[in-house]
Amino acid sequence: MRIGSEEHLTLLCREFIETHRAFDPTTLPWPALDETGTAKLRSLPFWDEAIRTEQRTGAKVSAYAALESPPLLREAVALQGYEERRHAQLLATLVERYGIAIDPGPEGALPRNLEWAFTRTGYGECIDSFFAFGLFALARDAEFLPHPLLDLLEPIVQEEARHILFLVNWVAYKRHQRPRAARPLHRARCVAAFAGAAYDRTRSAGNIAGGGVSKDGFTASGAGAIGGDFSLREFVARCLAENAYRFAPYDPRLLRPRLVPTLARAYLMVTGWRRPARPALESTG
Ligand SMILES: [Fe+2]
Ligand SMILES: [Fe+2]
Repeated sequence: MRIGSEEHLTLLCREFIETHRAFDPTTLPWPALDETGTAKLRSLPFWDEAIRTEQRTGAKVSAYAALESPPLLREAVALQGYEERRHAQLLATLVERYGIAIDPGPEGALPRNLEWAFTRTGYGECIDSFFAFGLFALARDAEFLPHPLLDLLEPIVQEEARHILFLVNWVAYKRHQRPRAARPLHRARCVAAFAGAAYDRTRSAGNIAGGGVSKDGFTASGAGAIGGDFSLREFVARCLAENAYRFAPYDPRLLRPRLVPTLARAYLMVTGWRRPARPALESTG
């Protein structure tokens, strides 16, 4: 299959549509939590921002979908917009269920250039999701929240994996649809979109370090909240392992997000990280 071909577009859209899971957040089996569990949930600093981000992303993606063609691509992007709005609804149901006070604020106006907004938001998700994969796994290991509750949040994480899988293939398809001479400009715009998203996140990380609240990349603010005994290198290595696991189910002919995992591998290499040796198997003889 040639990247950028009609066959690539059909595979990309079909894979996205067929792996969509139908569920209604309001009818999920929300588990009862004891006082400690509810207090832990309340102490997480990102509910407002998480709901606001999902709502804003849902509005942008849904508006962009209306501009897309052919109909199969429009359907896939519209489904992504629906999933983003469902993320907001899932989180809103959670905070209501466990009595967490939030103030997501008013909905902002839509950006004028929706294709640019879709690209930049998508690259932002490439960064956020990579770290969210690791965070989610660590939260499970540390039993930070009861597993039945983490199971209900699991679709958000896997759907973000599908979104960024979609993004990198959509970008490649769009680039190949352009005349050869126009492709470097498209590439430059993508680099600018990624750099902008990365800049927003480093600024937010600075904010968090200074005791402020994250405006972008709210997954970063969750890292401190989970706690646990792990180094930054162990965390990055875990994100890489989870990244491979999250993309394993999808058609191998589709492109995978590469930039953030490559940067993560480079970080582990220059810091001399070694995979911990496996403990020797005990003899059963
Ligand atoms: Fe989302
Ligand atoms: Fe997403």
